[in-house]
Amino acid sequence: MSLRDRLIARIAKGGPIGVADFMNACLHDPEGGYYATRPALGEAGDFITAPHVSQMFGELIGLWAAEVWERLGRPARARLVELGPGDGTMMGDMLRAARAAPGFLDACEVVFIETSAPLKGRQEEVFGDRARWLGSLGEVPWDAPVILVANEFLDCLPIRQAVRDGEAWRERLVGVDGRGKLAFEIAQSIYFPPHPPHEGEGEEGGDVFEWSEALIEFGGLVGELIARASGAGLVIDYGRDASGLGDTLQALRGHARDGALETPGLADLTAHVDFPAFLAAARAAGAETGPIRSQRAFLRDLGIEQRAATLAHARPDEACKIARQLNRLIAPDQMGALFKAACVYSPWLAAPGFEAE
Ligand SMILES: C[S@@+](CC[C@H](N)C(=O)[O-])C[C@H]1O[C@@H](n2cnc3c(N)ncnc32)[C@H](O)[C@@H]1O
Repeated sequence: MSLRDRLIARIAKGGPIGVADFMNACLHDPEGGYYATRPALGEAGDFITAPHVSQMFGELIGLWAAEVWERLGRPARARLVELGPGDGTMMGDMLRAARAAPGFLDACEVVFIETSAPLKGRQEEVFGDRARWLGSLGEVPWDAPVILVANEFLDCLPIRQAVRDGEAWRERLVGVDGRGKLAFEIAQSIYFPPHPPHEGEGEEGGDVFEWSEALIEFGGLVGELIARASGAGLVIDYGRDASGLGDTLQALRGHARDGALETPGLADLTAHVDFPAFLAAARAAGAETGPIRSQRAFLRDLGIEQRAATLAHARPDEACKIARQLNRLIAPDQMGALFKAACVYSPWLAAPGFEAE
């Protein structure tokens, strides 16, 4: 039975489900979930991420990680942890670039946190004994400093949604309509989101407010890990740097948008990351956090334009392609403004790119 039919049967029996439950099933159902069965990254797949746009992205993150290690005092043992490594492209580029920092690679144990069996298989082919896989962030030991990276991981975490209805918020649910199709509906009961919008926001009928318990849980886990083990965690994703309203749930299939309910398990389903909520959870767990930066500002500070110039000089026949890749990563109307970089770090560490202003 397809995931869609199983969801319809589940709803017919138990009633409508929340958007987070729907996302979880679509992404991780063991038999029909997108990441459990068919993750398709890259040009030939459903979506493309920054490491696939250009090697420059992973290289600069690798140099960032090596600089964190330097600022940690060049510890003899450290863990380089990646959440949701996909096909391993970013870590491959990171490790190649980080060879420039003597001692860094020898000191670092590479740890991947990955739920997708097909992607873990691909990562094993590439990294073999060079890496270790753990089932969850909570399993990372606290006995060595951690340098954590996550690109386009947080946007996969399930969100819940509430819709403004008169004076009240009511949770948005996924039900089944009269024609037997999956459809959004609004719960009868009034819902009090745990992190309600600021006063004055959300007074228009139909406004949508989103929050993610899973994102806050991850913020807490990253914060606790960094506070206990010491180190820094860099997260890059698309999302917002201030509280806001709006329905951002989106499905991507074959590089095109699909209706969020149209193809359960066949499309990647994501939502904008609420960076302030993630960072607040990390601070509550004892870590420090820096300003939320645009991907453009962060990559420019790391020297992406100089790296592009060096690459173009070395490969003049590819200069136009490199310029296009640079533009895709940092132009405000491409990935430069919508994508943000944020950092969680030990209170005594000045994390590169996130030093206090
Ligand atoms: C959009 S892909 C990004 C891949 C890669 N970071 C990149 O930038 O190309 C999301 C990654 O997160 C993994 N993932 C999604 N939810 C996860 C979870 N709850 N725990 C661990 N990994 C997860 C997916 O399997 C996949 O590797």
